[in-house]
Amino acid sequence: MWDKDLGMWPSVVGSVLFLSSVEFVLSGKWHLPKQYRQRDESFLNDALSYGPNVCAIQEVYRTGEKFYPDCVKSRLRKICDRPTFVRYQCCGGYNLVQGEQGCPAVRPLKNVRETIKDLKLNEFSKLLTNTELERQLIDGGAYTVFVPEDEAFEDLTYDQKQRLFPWTYQALSLVHYHIVHGWRNTSTVKEDMDVPTLYYGLKPVRIGRNPIGVYTVNCARIIKPNILAANGIIHVIDKVMSPFDLLGNLTDVIMRDSSQFSNFINVLYTAKMVTYLRDGGMFTIFAPNNYAFSRLPDNLKERILKDQRTAEAVVRHHVAEGIYCGESVLITSGLKTMDGSKVTFRCRKNGYYVDNVKVISSDNIAGNGVFHTIDKLLIPRAVKTMDDLARDLNLNKFLQLSHEAGLLDLLESRSDMTLFAPTDEAFNALPTSFQTALLSEPVEMEQLFEYHLVKGKITQDDMIGDKYLETESGKKMKISVHRNGILVNDGEIITPNEECSNGIIHVIDKVLIPPEYDLLMLITRDKSLQTFLYHVENSKLQSLLLKDDAHYTVFAPTEEAFSKKSTHEMEKLYDNIELLRKNTLHHIVKKIIISRGIPANSMLQLQSMQGEPITISQDDSGNFYVNKHAKIVEVNIIATNGILFKIDRLLQCMCNSSG
Ligand SMILES: *[C@@H]1O[C@H](CO)[C@@H](O)[C@H](O)[C@H]1NC(C)=O
Ligand SMILES: *[C@@H]1O[C@H](CO)[C@@H](O)[C@H](O)[C@H]1NC(C)=O
Repeated sequence: MWDKDLGMWPSVVGSVLFLSSVEFVLSGKWHLPKQYRQRDESFLNDALSYGPNVCAIQEVYRTGEKFYPDCVKSRLRKICDRPTFVRYQCCGGYNLVQGEQGCPAVRPLKNVRETIKDLKLNEFSKLLTNTELERQLIDGGAYTVFVPEDEAFEDLTYDQKQRLFPWTYQALSLVHYHIVHGWRNTSTVKEDMDVPTLYYGLKPVRIGRNPIGVYTVNCARIIKPNILAANGIIHVIDKVMSPFDLLGNLTDVIMRDSSQFSNFINVLYTAKMVTYLRDGGMFTIFAPNNYAFSRLPDNLKERILKDQRTAEAVVRHHVAEGIYCGESVLITSGLKTMDGSKVTFRCRKNGYYVDNVKVISSDNIAGNGVFHTIDKLLIPRAVKTMDDLARDLNLNKFLQLSHEAGLLDLLESRSDMTLFAPTDEAFNALPTSFQTALLSEPVEMEQLFEYHLVKGKITQDDMIGDKYLETESGKKMKISVHRNGILVNDGEIITPNEECSNGIIHVIDKVLIPPEYDLLMLITRDKSLQTFLYHVENSKLQSLLLKDDAHYTVFAPTEEAFSKKSTHEMEKLYDNIELLRKNTLHHIVKKIIISRGIPANSMLQLQSMQGEPITISQDDSGNFYVNKHAKIVEVNIIATNGILFKIDRLLQCMCNSSG
């Protein structure tokens, strides 16, 4: 069957130019995207130009590292922060023919042993010489052989090199461990799989592939895949694998190295996750070493080491399900950790990073996964205290003011709180005089601070319309739900539910000013509302607007509004106290309305306390109207027991005529 497929098969034989195979045959006419043609012209051998059986590979500039992306179109401009270029070669198994385009010549296949020799994979070759295995690779099969490139042997430690003398037991084990039975090209790898090797016929290697088509074996990258031989397939890899690679599961392997991981091991025990990470799988663990723990503040370290919930949160934040080899990360890879958060595994010029933490030893593989050693902990939100979280959320102004007022400790030490934290922009939008007052008068800031703080952990799911939250200041905060979101007083929640160890932060876009007065007091103190006050008093509605436990919206007509009425109309009102009372009640709604909750070009329908309907609407230019004709001239004046809007016209009710 292989012979039949040969025309399409990227097999190889070393040739004059050392033409390696690649897994992607771009057979037939070679259509190179224009921009690549120009850019990479210098690497195109004339004889190779366009023609059949030309293959492209990406190389990382100045490192000689080669990658084989699924197609040239998805070419990565940079790999690990280094620029790449594309090189064109004859596809594996094809050769140049003098005077012809492309690579039309097909070479006959040789056996695996010969092919390895032809590929000049000398170190691995040496280990095979005069062994029983060598015979098998000549006339047995079929085999799939993962052959480390020569450079990979240089990376071995001195000890390892010493033990790898040809003919030794160790050398033989190692070679057996690089061979599996059968024809296994990379297309057969759909997902991570463990494949038994010739090493006692069982110790497996793990073949993996990532979504962009990087293949690994035990986290060694396949740098030249699918080189076809007469009795097998060769994949060149960039590391020497070890028969001990998959020996022991993650926790066992980590525990073997207690000099590095004693703290992390303790945390695993405190978190009661040792068994889980030993029996389950597959996992990727970012394992912090002891140095990472030594960098923690004492109290946090104590908490992580001793408190089960904290330890568990930390461990879950360092573990992702599935296997993520560093070798398969070409730029970045977003991983979801077990606590549901996301971390970024990325490759930079000088190594791998998870978020901004450097990986100091990558791709340590174990029976049920892989671990990478890091020297700094990734602290999950759930372990941070509220002040840390506020820093993460860039609530700098809030933090600064809280600090000035000596309130920062509160955010660290108290438990179970909900903070509605205004953004920096919200603070900047305050009048300058107000900002200065907050800075210079800690008491002001304290009151403001306490007005943004509520006892208990209140998530967005706990917030429903027309409810009040009792703030730490003793004053209430109004929750209202509208079609586009949730408001607290007139501030909108823009980032909800940021949870940390001792509470929840909801970021809001307004500084909430604690109300000082009840509705009656607001009206009494306002010079432009004196006639309305007179109406309230004569309607005997003072007690209503004083009440602490009810919440009203009052549409208070200004002096200007009254001036639009004729003396006659006013006298008619004053002659009939019942009519006056009805009229006044027509300006009050037993519900709190926040103008921001009313979308533009729409109308909110309500019932006044007098019983007739009233509407509030917003026009194109952001003006609000009651019953279409009374313009709201001042919005959202918040009282301890409600909210006040000033309007420029009296609202008419039917009661006027019936009275
Ligand atoms: C892999 O082998 C299968 C047959 O088993 C073949 O159809 C396929 O084309 C091969 N793929 C590559 C990339 O060599
Ligand atoms: C290792 O993990 C695998 C799951 O990947 C599990 O089946 C096996 O029992 C574990 N071995 C030990 C010794 O815990």
